[in-house]
Amino acid sequence: PTSIGILACELYIPSLYVEQSALETYDKVSKGKYTIGLGQQRIAICSDHEDICSLCLTVLSRLLEQTGVHPQQIGRLDVGTETLVDKAKSIKTVLMQLFTEHGNTAVEGVDSINACYGGTAAIFNAIHWIESSYWDGRYAVVVMGDIAVYAKGNARPTGGAGACALLIGPNAPIVFEPGCRSTYMTNVYDFYKPDLSSPYPVVDGQLSVQCYTSALDTCYAQYCLKAEMNGESRSKTSSAAADNINLSTFAGIVFHTPYVKLTQKSFSRLYFNDILRACSYIPNALVEKYKDFDIHSSANDKDLERDLIEQSRELFGQKTLPGLYFSQNMGNMYTPSLYYSLFSFLSSQPSEEQFYGQRILLFSYGSGLASSMYSIICRKVHDTRFTLGEIQKSIKRARQELDNERIELAPELMDKLLLEREKHDHQASFIPSQPSEVLKPGNMYLKSVDKNYRRVYEKF
Ligand code: ACO
Repeated sequence: PTSIGILACELYIPSLYVEQSALETYDKVSKGKYTIGLGQQRIAICSDHEDICSLCLTVLSRLLEQTGVHPQQIGRLDVGTETLVDKAKSIKTVLMQLFTEHGNTAVEGVDSINACYGGTAAIFNAIHWIESSYWDGRYAVVVMGDIAVYAKGNARPTGGAGACALLIGPNAPIVFEPGCRSTYMTNVYDFYKPDLSSPYPVVDGQLSVQCYTSALDTCYAQYCLKAEMNGESRSKTSSAAADNINLSTFAGIVFHTPYVKLTQKSFSRLYFNDILRACSYIPNALVEKYKDFDIHSSANDKDLERDLIEQSRELFGQKTLPGLYFSQNMGNMYTPSLYYSLFSFLSSQPSEEQFYGQRILLFSYGSGLASSMYSIICRKVHDTRFTLGEIQKSIKRARQELDNERIELAPELMDKLLLEREKHDHQASFIPSQPSEVLKPGNMYLKSVDKNYRRVYEKF
């Protein structure tokens, strides 16, 4: 199979949100700390009818409905999450109810878990299955989602929630570029969830940002080398010259997005890497100015950071900002965050033609830590209904929901909901009791948890 990639997608938009400006007042922090300092506008909230399984069931059933793909046509389903409702039973097995009712029990794959990286791990599994001798010609599906909640304190405004389902297969309009992938993994305690009874992580926020930044630097250096080597081997077999890989190679650069401001800093960091590599698109004056700097010792230099943000502002506006619409208005979604950024970017131009031939660079980060950088390329497809235009339509439906169909909550109500979630998260038995107006027709929701912790979901 060739041109393996994303054929279709569905995104979940939780129906409740809180304005970050209202949260600033409620938390008694200085005006602008969350909206300017973190760059966030709104935070998505879930009611007690929504848990991680209901989010995943909803996007998966919508993907099947919208694409018309029969459940029998799916041979692999991978799930990425860090929102656990059970230590043994995977979310994948809960999602099997959508397949078994159509007589399909032959679906490979289970859950991948490592903080915000699980969705990327799930995608890599799906790609590798299709590339392997075990592939049986059917589609793969990746579902990823999280309800990201933090204990009261400075991390709480960086919470959020979301889930998405991706149909993966050959002859795709969004292709994973073969061979173009770098990985950096190491053992750190920046963000982790050792208390299995609590939905909240233990987080060292400043350390997590440092770890994110060094993972970014390392992945980018390695990605450029690998992609250049790939280009060289391609150019031996064709007349095309090997490319020098840098930010100008890509139409879009999208990041795992804990909060918008971190992506602006990350973009300027990649720009700094390109300055130190004296890439041809960088003005000579900048290469000269920074010729004595090195990438590692400069990580805590605030003046440098400010200058780099200024120097790269225009490019950031072109290549990353169009990918931040969902994140800015929903918050950190953990595993699907990077993919909401990709989809936000892909819906930022009115027509699909504008993306043909364009490459987009993706950086995935999960604390603990696991990180990868890879790229996709958009293409015009033939003899298939899975086009970029159809993908754009489903993203636009999600944007429409985001803009027009959400209900605003006061910050004190958010606190109340989170307190209730803490209490009910692992309670048996439990019947959700918050107002059901937040549910949309067609959504799957949690109906009950019985005394043996068995969860029942129904379509609303
Ligand atoms: N107006 C404008 N800017 C302001 C204001 C204001 N009134 N007040 C503060 N700021 C700026 C600060 O100067 C700072 O800017 P800087 O980042 O350029 O230095 C920024 O807002 C944030 O303020 P801090 O005081 O640094 O914020 P704090 O330490 O309270 O919290 C943190 C930030 C650590 C990121 C916290 O939200 C957190 O722990 N989040 C969760 C962890 C996280 O998301 N990590 C990222 C990678 S790992 C992952 O995805 C989970």
